[in-house]
Amino acid sequence: MRTTAESIVHVFEPGSDAPAAPLLLLHGTGGNEHDLLSLGRKLYPQAALLSPRGQVLENGMPRFFRRLAEGVFDLDDLRQRTHDLAAFVAAASAAYGFDSHKVIAVGYSNGANIAASMLLLHPDVLAGAVLFHAMVPLIPDQQPDLRGVPVFMGAGRTDAMIPPQLAEKLAQLLQQAGADVKLLWQPGGHALTPAEIQAATDWLGRFQRGS
Ligand code: MLT
Repeated sequence: MRTTAESIVHVFEPGSDAPAAPLLLLHGTGGNEHDLLSLGRKLYPQAALLSPRGQVLENGMPRFFRRLAEGVFDLDDLRQRTHDLAAFVAAASAAYGFDSHKVIAVGYSNGANIAASMLLLHPDVLAGAVLFHAMVPLIPDQQPDLRGVPVFMGAGRTDAMIPPQLAEKLAQLLQQAGADVKLLWQPGGHALTPAEIQAATDWLGRFQRGS
């Protein structure tokens, strides 16, 4: 079936400055398309915001892909949902007229994991990514070419959901593929901290200066 912008429930908010990079907002488990809008506005005020809802329901909670247990992913489903999300971004770019080459993902937890999967399986879709509390989602068959793609990661040393070694491993995997990774460690757990949000806002300034 052909993917259109209507294929996935979402919110789109136009940006106030046409050249600004659009943000692809990807919520955590149990969230929805409204969850990260105010965060996106704070991180990058001029950006257009594209915020889809995860297509999978786990006990009524939306997610972006199925899991077999906490931290154990259904890899076939993850691959398929990643392809679907890439097709959705292309369709939304055509429907709303934003530049498909400038999209920056901003994901939290489950949303950050599918954003990481997108970097690994569709390295041409994202111009950059902010991954809050992500882990290795899968190991791709072929190393992607992510040369020069900037990635910000925020991680918690005591995150019970995201084992710190798997956040570290994701950073290494992205770096080996050529991505320019900034990994910020926080002493806390799975919750997003004001310090991470501030660091990501500062980091995103590079796109606003066009550098
Ligand atoms: C995931 O399933 O992506 C991770 O366990 C994180 C989460 O769902 O919150």
